[in-house]
Amino acid sequence: MAKKILAIPGSNSIESINKKLLVSVVSMLEDTKGTIVNINDFPLPLFSVDLKEEKGVPEPALNFKEKMEESDGFILSFAEYNGSYSSAFKNLLDWLSVIEGKLFEDKPVLLMCATPGKLGGKNVLHTANAYLPHMGANIIGSVSFGEFYENFNDGDGILNKELLNEVKEKLKIFEASL
Ligand SMILES: Cc1cc2nc3c(=O)[nH]c(=O)nc-3n(C[C@H](O)[C@H](O)[C@H](O)COP(=O)(O)O)c2cc1C
Repeated sequence: MAKKILAIPGSNSIESINKKLLVSVVSMLEDTKGTIVNINDFPLPLFSVDLKEEKGVPEPALNFKEKMEESDGFILSFAEYNGSYSSAFKNLLDWLSVIEGKLFEDKPVLLMCATPGKLGGKNVLHTANAYLPHMGANIIGSVSFGEFYENFNDGDGILNKELLNEVKEKLKIFEASL
């Protein structure tokens, strides 16, 4: 049976460039079914230890975890805010982290970050590469996608040949590891 992966844009922006990148990347998958999830469909209160003690983990976080459990791997593409995750993604991650068990269940994970600037989210990718393995992420690679508006357009997808080759290579390794 074909493997299923979940592509998660780490942004709550309607016009998220990370979502656009994931739409293009998912269309390049060869033998795998990719689903792009919108984190806005899982509205969550601001994480608080007290709220968790009082009311438990909110339903939308449990639903998101269920989607992850049904998937064989993940492609995460972060919006970089001030060198780290966007508030919306970090809030989701904090809620997911207090559900029992390793969040990523040792499944393959490909990390990406698209930014309009040159640096391509090196800081958030560094943070994710360093920490997500503690949450059971089997990180098979990461792609830093800088200068998004020069290197991508809606009609053609990824314009920059080097970046396109890098994405294709890493996707191949990712699919082989599922
Ligand atoms: C509050 C805020 C902080 C940001 N910080 C960074 C940053 O540290 N590095 C960076 O390259 N871009 C930064 N940006 C620009 C984002 O990379 C840009 O808004 C990008 O479109 C976010 O991804 P998204 O479109 O998928 O939400 C920041 C944007 C906002 C709104």
